[in-house]
Amino acid sequence: MLTPTAEIVAAARAAGGGVGAFNVITVEHAEAIVTGAEEAGLPVILQISENAVRFHQGRLAPIAAAARAVADSSRAAVALHLDHVESDELFDQAAAHGFGSVMYDASASSYADNVAATAAAVRRGRRRGLWVESELGAIGGKDGAHAPGARTDPGEAAAYVAATGVDALAVAVGSSHAMRTRTARLDHELIGRLRAAVPVPLVLHGSSGVPDDELVAAVRHGMVKINIGTALNSAFTGAVRASLDGDAALVDPRRYLAPARAAMAGTVAAALRLLAGTTTP
Ligand code: G3H
Ligand code: ZN
Repeated sequence: MLTPTAEIVAAARAAGGGVGAFNVITVEHAEAIVTGAEEAGLPVILQISENAVRFHQGRLAPIAAAARAVADSSRAAVALHLDHVESDELFDQAAAHGFGSVMYDASASSYADNVAATAAAVRRGRRRGLWVESELGAIGGKDGAHAPGARTDPGEAAAYVAATGVDALAVAVGSSHAMRTRTARLDHELIGRLRAAVPVPLVLHGSSGVPDDELVAAVRHGMVKINIGTALNSAFTGAVRASLDGDAALVDPRRYLAPARAAMAGTVAAALRLLAGTTTP
């Protein structure tokens, strides 16, 4: 059932665990993620990025409606989150399409501009009942726009959260977007200092490149919302490739999409269990 992001994140935080937020590109992603959550018996966050909306020819409505319908029909608690939103126009459409939360991304701007734009977005979001996440510290890997190795300063993070009023903060602690190998090493001491400095839940972006033991340690040190995208696409596309390589006569998309969706669901279930602490690495 569709559940507010705020509720799912607060419950994970209170339990001392983490919750997976997985990127949706097509309806099969939404189906796979929700199937994984049902298999694990755990809540989940479906997130649609501004990039994914661009892929859908700039139309938010069709993919949002599909994800929402999948969430509504699930027995798992499923939140709908709009991810990496740079456009104010898109931000302002979120609530009407069923999103409980938005990540407003002004991290490429200067500190002052990031504060001003994010504080304004939070004010508009509040009027629509949205939970707002934002980013400070420019996490690497987004279209090569940000330098890897960036780190969020805890003192600046505390001032930023106070000035903007955000509900959650994405921080740069060593992860980077779009990694296809799990070789990232996180700065756990910094995660602990950030958790002590800011009153809101911390968000880890670029989690596909982070090994299981590092993810578990990140949650232990204070990360709550764990964003995973590329790992799902690796599982999905790997299965599509195996199907097509194995049968040159295959033309029905259902024959290669079904195993791909199942592979993605397995990846989601394993990640959710790991983050909730119901399995160990
Ligand atoms: O916001 C989305 C995530 O940060 C996903 O990053 O594709 O590197 O796992 P990833
Ligand atoms: Zn991200």
